Amino acid sequence: MRIVSGIQPTGSLHLGNYLGAIRNWVRMQDEAAAAGHDCFFFLADLHAISMPHDPAALKAGTRTMAAALTACGIDDAKSVLFNQAQVPAHAELQWLLNGTARMGWLNRMTQFKDKSGKNREGASAALFTYPVLQAADVLLYQTTHVPVGEDQKQHLELARDIAQKFNNDFCTDNAPLFTLPEPIIPRDAARIMSLRDGTSKMSKSDPSDMSRINLSDDADTVMKKVKKAKTDPAPLPTEPAGLEGRPEALNLVAIYAALTDGTVAGVLSDFGGEGFGKFKPALGELLVEHLRPVTERFNALKDDDEQIDAILARGGARAREVAAPTLAGAYDALGLLR
Ligand code: TYM
Repeated sequence: MRIVSGIQPTGSLHLGNYLGAIRNWVRMQDEAAAAGHDCFFFLADLHAISMPHDPAALKAGTRTMAAALTACGIDDAKSVLFNQAQVPAHAELQWLLNGTARMGWLNRMTQFKDKSGKNREGASAALFTYPVLQAADVLLYQTTHVPVGEDQKQHLELARDIAQKFNNDFCTDNAPLFTLPEPIIPRDAARIMSLRDGTSKMSKSDPSDMSRINLSDDADTVMKKVKKAKTDPAPLPTEPAGLEGRPEALNLVAIYAALTDGTVAGVLSDFGGEGFGKFKPALGELLVEHLRPVTERFNALKDDDEQIDAILARGGARAREVAAPTLAGAYDALGLLR
């Protein structure tokens, strides 16, 4: 069993990333360490250049995100933590897989449509081929499990399609090069929505900081953001069906459920009939309690560039070692003389 996942080091780590992915990374890391499996977690800095970006901010953001993941519990004694740019095999395998990925497959990716918006002609070529790099990220390590939020499901299906076509086209039946990866998506926190709009996902790129809870927010800021979160005037229903058509209310209840490892139905059996005047402070306090240790660890680490760089350098060296045989296998399968 091998677990691999990544996060773009742009903007701050927010509650959507945490509940949708990072919390699962930490849980899987701890189980894997006990069972002797291994985990690779990386900062997708190569993906970050697919959108207009400031180089100095990317460099700082890569270190900050590494500090944030460490603060959440990613422990480099148990997991390999690195940034893609330290492992050239990611970019190399992407080029090799560009020969297998089909334009039609990439044309169907919803993220490209969302991120390029009305300006398709002006979007970077990297934004279009982004999912091929993501396929390379996981296929390089013979990954079996990829813990992600719901929004990455389509990209992982594409990674499986690419792996399957490559295995069919260039490998013999009894010696496929690539393992087909399985996405691991949490039940209730698969898609945490913006606090300002229950129909769009909580995101690092939303211009309004009030739309998200950052893992670095202090207690007052968390309480304020929850209090100001958009809701409707009706009290909470007693059954999940009563949340239909109430995306903001559903989002807050789902966050509460995820934080307590409970279910939406369970939260409603406690809070059904109550107004947000009672529910929001309870949710705010729960969040503050959960985030306090993470924020404390993050603040202690975030300016220690030396320690962070050492973690990433060690992780990079290990990742290069593990990636090498699969990359060599891909060159060989394609008939590239080296
Ligand atoms: P990114 O950086 O947008 O997000 C990192 C992880 O957080 C999850 N996530 C969410 N989950 C629930 N609710 C939300 N509102 C929310 N927002 C983000 C994402 O699903 C993701 O798991 N393309 C990827 C990074 C990547 C990657 C990979 C992931 C690059 N290569 C290989 C897995 C495997 C991305 O931009 O994630």
